[in-house]
Amino acid sequence: MKIVVKIGGSLIDEDLSPLARDVKELSKEHQIVIIHGGAKIVTEIAQKLGKEQRFVTSPTGFRSRYTDAETAEIYTMVIAGTVNKKLVTVLLKEGVNAIGLSGIDGGLLIAERKPRIKVKEGNKVLLMDGDYTGKVVQVNTKLLELLLNAGYVPVIGAVAIGKEGENLNVDGDRAAASVAGAIKADKLLDMTDVPGVLENEKIITKLSISEAKQAMEKVGPGMRRKIFAALEALREGVPEVVIASGIGEHPLTNALEEKNCTVITNESVE
Ligand SMILES: Nc1ncnc2c1ncn2[C@@H]1O[C@H](COP(=O)(O)OP(=O)(O)OP(=O)(O)O)[C@@H](O)[C@H]1O
Ligand SMILES: [Mg+2]
Repeated sequence: MKIVVKIGGSLIDEDLSPLARDVKELSKEHQIVIIHGGAKIVTEIAQKLGKEQRFVTSPTGFRSRYTDAETAEIYTMVIAGTVNKKLVTVLLKEGVNAIGLSGIDGGLLIAERKPRIKVKEGNKVLLMDGDYTGKVVQVNTKLLELLLNAGYVPVIGAVAIGKEGENLNVDGDRAAASVAGAIKADKLLDMTDVPGVLENEKIITKLSISEAKQAMEKVGPGMRRKIFAALEALREGVPEVVIASGIGEHPLTNALEEKNCTVITNESVE
């Protein structure tokens, strides 16, 4: 199988050795591509650098970082540097043949920039200029295939390159969905710091497309984006998306066995 694993930035302070051991085990049999975010650390380091971060909400209710040119630089530095190397190190330590990359390297993730974003403030919708965020429109699958066929586990930081060479902030969950679609992955495992989509503190174990659309309206921002990205992945032909916890022993095998997690598929639920 081809498996895309998204590792949430929410997990960066956790012990990721069990997850790395699972990657080692699974990579004997499957081809694995890892993608990660790192929002929390970007904010922490930006603050240390004296660059206060601003978060905005779109008219459709998605919360995101307002990424001006300076923030885009910090974002790239932290995602492609700090977070990427931390993950690659823990994977190497457990014997995984991990190679760290960002979406910029080799033109791995090409994105379309949205130079002007719509922001909701109170009852008003404002247009903001100078934002460096984008949506992945092209994945260099040749590079990924080359690495996978040579026995590497690519670890991609979710930064992309725009058509004019700009470094762009792209959402990790959605970038993972794009990669999974592009390489025709069998599964997308979205590993985060909660066991799945929660409703009244209980895990929703299965969601069909229509149920996922409904659930999206009820959950908070981080999970809303995951469900949105899961729906994108399904639309791009990925048969199954699992949202699961990356904490504890055997997080990936549990997610593959659909234990203690949320599975979103395009099949209707019996
Ligand atoms: N209904 C819900 N069920 C589960 N989690 C929810 C729900 N509503 C909101 N959340 C939040 O979503 C968070 C996960 O998304 P978040 O974006 O914070 O993490 P991540 O995607 O793993 O990290 P990163 O975005 O840095 O890659 C959880 O920690 C939780 O607080
Ligand atoms: Mg997130």
